[in-house]
Amino acid sequence: MKDKIFFESSEMLIINDDFLKTNLVDENSIDLIVTSPPYNVDIKYGAYNDKIPYDVYLQFTEIWLSKANKLLKDDGRMCLNIPLDKNKGGQQSVYADIISIAKKVGFKYHSSIVWNEQNISRRTAWGSWLSASAPYVIAPVEMIAILYKKRWKKESGSGISDITKEEFIEWTNGVWTFMGESKTKIGHPAPFPVELPLRCIKLFSFIGDTVLDPFLGSGSTLIACLHTKRRGIGIEIDRKYCEIAKNRIVNKVRQVQLKFEINEGTD
Ligand SMILES: C[S@@+](CC[C@H](N)C(=O)[O-])C[C@H]1O[C@@H](n2cnc3c(N)ncnc32)[C@H](O)[C@@H]1O
Repeated sequence: MKDKIFFESSEMLIINDDFLKTNLVDENSIDLIVTSPPYNVDIKYGAYNDKIPYDVYLQFTEIWLSKANKLLKDDGRMCLNIPLDKNKGGQQSVYADIISIAKKVGFKYHSSIVWNEQNISRRTAWGSWLSASAPYVIAPVEMIAILYKKRWKKESGSGISDITKEEFIEWTNGVWTFMGESKTKIGHPAPFPVELPLRCIKLFSFIGDTVLDPFLGSGSTLIACLHTKRRGIGIEIDRKYCEIAKNRIVNKVRQVQLKFEINEGTD
């Protein structure tokens, strides 16, 4: 068990384990899950095979969603970043299929945010160019489904929010427009930008809450937790991505300390 605790500080925990099997997170302990699971689009991850038959992918989805549901408190919530459709390896209504599984395993549906990530490259796979024979329609967006366990009204936690008036007005509009993250800069094949978990955390949780990302990747959700004074737990099956996440956290803490020391020095 000890070697599965990859990194631990007072506010952060990185677990190097399979989320579907791990028993290192207690049931009914999580206020908010923010995550982006593998999309089954043949991304070259290290330990995880991202090209499995669609029915197997949906079984995997059912297992992890059921587990996520158990870990949430009764007024816990989940922000689930998933594709709308899938074109690679056969057309599939991924978003619709995952939402119906989430409901089946006990989640309640609240609403959805369309993330307009302005990914222009996706717009070039048109199929039959200028012909009705087999054109492809592709929406250059991803979805963020907002789900909850039993009660939408949040009663547990500090009750202290840190969202500004401008952020609240802008982010409660369910179309979010900001760019995706650079894979080469982060060193992970599918990172989301910190802006995504940051908005979810400020909109849907209180200061001091516990936030879980069961598919941590490069650790973007934990970076957002650092910015917002939430306790962060991340689970990642691949040890080298745990290392990337840990380094990002350590560097961020150093930057914040340095800024603090410089400000102290100039006072
Ligand atoms: C879409 S990526 C998440 C990227 C992350 N949001 C970020 O900003 O870097 C999905 C991640 O899930 C990991 N993964 C796949 N299966 C897993 C499992 N069973 N348990 C834990 N992590 C898993 C993959 O290694 C991959 O890093």
